[in-house]
Amino acid sequence: MATPSAIIWSNNQLQLLDQRILPARCEYLHYDDPFAVAEAIRNMVVRGAPAIGITAAYGMVLAAQQLASQPASVAAWCAALSAAREAIANSRPTAVNLFWALNRCDQVIEEQGNGGQVLAALRELAIQIHAEDVTINQRIGDFGASLIPHNSIVYTHCNAGALATGGYGTALGVIRSAHRDGKIKGVFAGETRPWLQGARLTSWELMQDDIPVTLAIEGAAAHLIREHKPSWIIVGADRVAANGDAANKIGTYNLAIIAKYHGTKVMVAAPTSTFDAHIDGPQIPIEQRPGNEISHSFGHQVAPTNIATSNPAFDVTPAQLIDAIVTEHGIIHQPNRERVLAHLAQNK
Ligand code: MRU
Repeated sequence: MATPSAIIWSNNQLQLLDQRILPARCEYLHYDDPFAVAEAIRNMVVRGAPAIGITAAYGMVLAAQQLASQPASVAAWCAALSAAREAIANSRPTAVNLFWALNRCDQVIEEQGNGGQVLAALRELAIQIHAEDVTINQRIGDFGASLIPHNSIVYTHCNAGALATGGYGTALGVIRSAHRDGKIKGVFAGETRPWLQGARLTSWELMQDDIPVTLAIEGAAAHLIREHKPSWIIVGADRVAANGDAANKIGTYNLAIIAKYHGTKVMVAAPTSTFDAHIDGPQIPIEQRPGNEISHSFGHQVAPTNIATSNPAFDVTPAQLIDAIVTEHGIIHQPNRERVLAHLAQNK
């Protein structure tokens, strides 16, 4: 059984698979308001960098649709589209795909002016971004799989799968392609506190594709890597900086350090829409999420009342700990500033 789509655009309405309740329940929420879409991104209904970008683009379509349904002046169009843009831009700060998609919408709005034609153009753009993402992930998957030796155990973190993208996945795309090529003996999925993307989403996706997966708690990583000698740790990214540093789910940096010590290689699988050539790793904004996500576990209190908390959602892995960054255009081996910028320049 294939993983259900995280995002469906149908009858001019956006449907998002509510990832907060997977895998127990598979339910879609319906959206026709851009501000509700911004909340859905913030509240983790939809998550994963490429999926957030696609959703942002559809959010702008919904803003234009609302305007087109009533007579509105050019000034009203401008004000409403920029209010929607601001709300969506303020939903989550780290995944640069969100801003990449909004910038593409800005270009369309600038070209079309404000009015009826902008709606058709935004709709076309969002559908194109959505469809292209699947092809891009298949390419990433195939490039990444070429690096995986036969009979490999691999280790992944969080969920960089079909659920985090338009389909197929980035890190899980690599694992899917490598499995298709008969190279995968097994996959370890780290549970990924506090939202349990590894336990709830990655395990579920891989089991649906009959890819052998074993779930483990984060604290078991060093032990498991020493005992099982995975060939690669394969993760996605929320932002790859100009110097090759990569932001991804909190705990990725720990894994990269463990990998270095044990001679396991680290692969970051990400489309070029996840690259931010304007900043280096230390400047990547790291989302701080509410403390109750760790003092409570899915509504159940697990720490003392009023406990001080620190809940960064992402960390930045330095380029020196990354062996390969895989994009839809190929592989950046031993990434550094020169190689990252050359890869982007060659594939504009
Ligand atoms: O907080 P999340 O679930 O949005 O974090 C997701 C990740 O960290 C993914 O690894 C990343 O966005 C890449 S998804 C292809």
